[in-house]
Amino acid sequence: MTHAAVLDELVTLVDPGKLLTDPASLDAYGKDWTRQFPPAPLAIVFPKSAEQLQAIVLWANRHRVALVPSGGRTGLSAGAVAANGEVVVSFDYMNRILDFNAFDRTVVCEPGVVTRQLQAFAEEHGLYYPVDFASSGSSQIGGNIGTNAGGIKVIRYGMTRNWVAGLKVVTGKGELLELNKNLIKNATGYDLRQLFIGAEGTLGFVVEATMRLDRTPRNLTAMVLGTPDFDSIMPVLHAFQGKLDLTAFEFFSDKALAKVLARGDVPAPFATDCPFYALLEFEAVNEEVADTALATFEQCVEEGWVLDGVMSQSETQLRNLWKLREYISETISHWTPYKNDISVTVSKVPAFLREIDAIVGEHYPHFEVVWYGHIGDGNLHLNILKPDDLDKETFFATCAKVNQWVFQIVQRYDGSISAEHGVGMTKRDYLGYSRSPEEIACMKAIKAVFDPNGIMNPGKIFAPD
Ligand code: MLT
Ligand code: ZN
Repeated sequence: MTHAAVLDELVTLVDPGKLLTDPASLDAYGKDWTRQFPPAPLAIVFPKSAEQLQAIVLWANRHRVALVPSGGRTGLSAGAVAANGEVVVSFDYMNRILDFNAFDRTVVCEPGVVTRQLQAFAEEHGLYYPVDFASSGSSQIGGNIGTNAGGIKVIRYGMTRNWVAGLKVVTGKGELLELNKNLIKNATGYDLRQLFIGAEGTLGFVVEATMRLDRTPRNLTAMVLGTPDFDSIMPVLHAFQGKLDLTAFEFFSDKALAKVLARGDVPAPFATDCPFYALLEFEAVNEEVADTALATFEQCVEEGWVLDGVMSQSETQLRNLWKLREYISETISHWTPYKNDISVTVSKVPAFLREIDAIVGEHYPHFEVVWYGHIGDGNLHLNILKPDDLDKETFFATCAKVNQWVFQIVQRYDGSISAEHGVGMTKRDYLGYSRSPEEIACMKAIKAVFDPNGIMNPGKIFAPD
């Protein structure tokens, strides 16, 4: 059958106007926030129901056409990129909140619900959806589940996985499965729900997700602290964690801060220039807690771990302090960064970062290196910025060469080559640095169970055979 005939069949499976093949749509829906792979999908389809999606999957199996699930396309590892004539399945028209249960504190979402839409819905009902990150205004719940999204509150609330009560999925075979049925306790064998979380759409599609909500945090208060060197950040974390129940503990380098301040729309936290900064957050439920935070700050200054600091006194100040951290990713995207998203257990962070920083300094002496991340949970973002006068291909090829040194260190520290951005296509060649051959074989066998014809997001997580 020709491409045209195959698409003629596909168009009958969705509502009128819900299949696009114009160049602008192919370009927009064929890519995510990575810039490494030119988009080249065959078509974009927009199902409106699980039934339509099932029909699309059965069609794809009949014609052996690859499908790429597409949410807000804010991914940073090319997990939702369609570069090889795939059909992109967008959830832009499956974006309704279907149900809310105040007693169970659960919300039933279609996969295209935008993360911030869920956060706002929770707020309207006096509750809180705690998974948060800079792209939450565009990213969709289906994509968050596909990548097990983390973000800035993991130290307290964990990853997306912790908030998924139940899933309805359509597997790569076209079966509709109801996973876990929103139970808190369910000891009936394998929890298949967990397999679909973080699977990057390689097993099937999420068509409905029941998400848990939490109580609203009280009087969130942030501090930004400047440290004299990287090594001082960890004792600061330890000191504050010993005294307060933190909701976040982030870090960024002076280079990251300088780029954000150069935008001109966020005030500097204080006048002292410091090589590194920590941003921490806690619930200042009463004056005693705020006093404890200040006393801990003073102790850190006395120890020489902190040079200067500021504590938010209002919602506006809280938001402005967070902007210093949350604007980094978007701001440096101007320099087409080569991104690494690595993690180790928290106690290993200082030695790990020192080794990586030395390797990076040795191999990229002419590139600007920007560090930031969720240091409170062991997740570091290492971004190498492309010099303006270097072409993208040469730059990425140079960075890829150094990867092996970086990932050898990650492996030696029993760390992860992708803490929260996923493997997608950018990290698939390095999976072996974090997973054993036996584990990878098990993962591939699991994929074959749910997706025997290999139509679900091929080339993601695993390099093509
Ligand atoms: C962040 O922490 O800002 C996000 O993971 C995005 C990024 O790493 O650039
Ligand atoms: Zn991050």
